Amino acid sequence: MSETFIRIRDLHKTYRPQAGPVEVLKGVSMEIVHGKSVAITGPSGSGKSTLLSLIAGLQKPDKGHIEIAGKDLEEMSSEEVEKFRALKIGIVFQDHYLLMQCTALENVLLPTLPFSIDPEEALKRASELLEKVGLANRADHFPSQLSGGEQHRVAIARALINRPALLLADEPTGRLEPSMGKEIVKLLTDNRDYTLISVTHANYVAKAMDVSYKLENGELALAKA
Ligand SMILES: Nc1ncnc2c1ncn2[C@@H]1O[C@H](COP(=O)(O)OP(=O)(O)OP(=O)(O)O)[C@@H](O)[C@H]1O
Ligand SMILES: [Mg+2]
Repeated sequence: MSETFIRIRDLHKTYRPQAGPVEVLKGVSMEIVHGKSVAITGPSGSGKSTLLSLIAGLQKPDKGHIEIAGKDLEEMSSEEVEKFRALKIGIVFQDHYLLMQCTALENVLLPTLPFSIDPEEALKRASELLEKVGLANRADHFPSQLSGGEQHRVAIARALINRPALLLADEPTGRLEPSMGKEIVKLLTDNRDYTLISVTHANYVAKAMDVSYKLENGELALAKA
């Protein structure tokens, strides 16, 4: 039987900057079956990145619950959430956040540092991942020496290094031309052993996912099951 991996119930989130509140999520619910790939589309500013950051436990909802692999994030301490995230979740941020003083290879290796992984094994996997994203010959280059799309591909390799159970990708093809974008989608979706949630504006990315949702006016609706 297919088993629910992520259960999101009635999520509410309002930002409250000095200039006035911005109500972003107004009761978002969804369930994702283990191993499925899910697209989240929606207009700019609709709260897609906010929703991903809540699922990653990077910020807290005002109301509602997020359960991943049977664990309710609300019931975990911030240290437990951090550990859970480091162990189970790979994140490709919209603005990739590579460390500029580290090479591509070092950036990919960074998430392995908190764990006692055999360094040779980690190096081998990092090199393989860079090869998969088409950057084998750029391993020793710094992010400033790479194009925006290449930096994004390094971020994808970094998100996969710890073999996450859940991959959250915010516009993984946003800076890539469609041919490279399609290769990246294939890389993210083929032979997966993780559940994938990908935010996207691109139709071809949404189409490649098992399920597609649209976030609009603070509400999430199923677009393709
Ligand atoms: N830290 C913050 N403080 C105040 N408002 C914020 C903050 N972060 C996001 N917002 C606002 O919340 C809304 C949702 O932002 P979010 O980044 O989640 O949208 P998005 O759907 O990812 O947009 P895009 O497609 O442009 O990346 C926007 O109106 C944004 O201005
Ligand atoms: Mg965004």
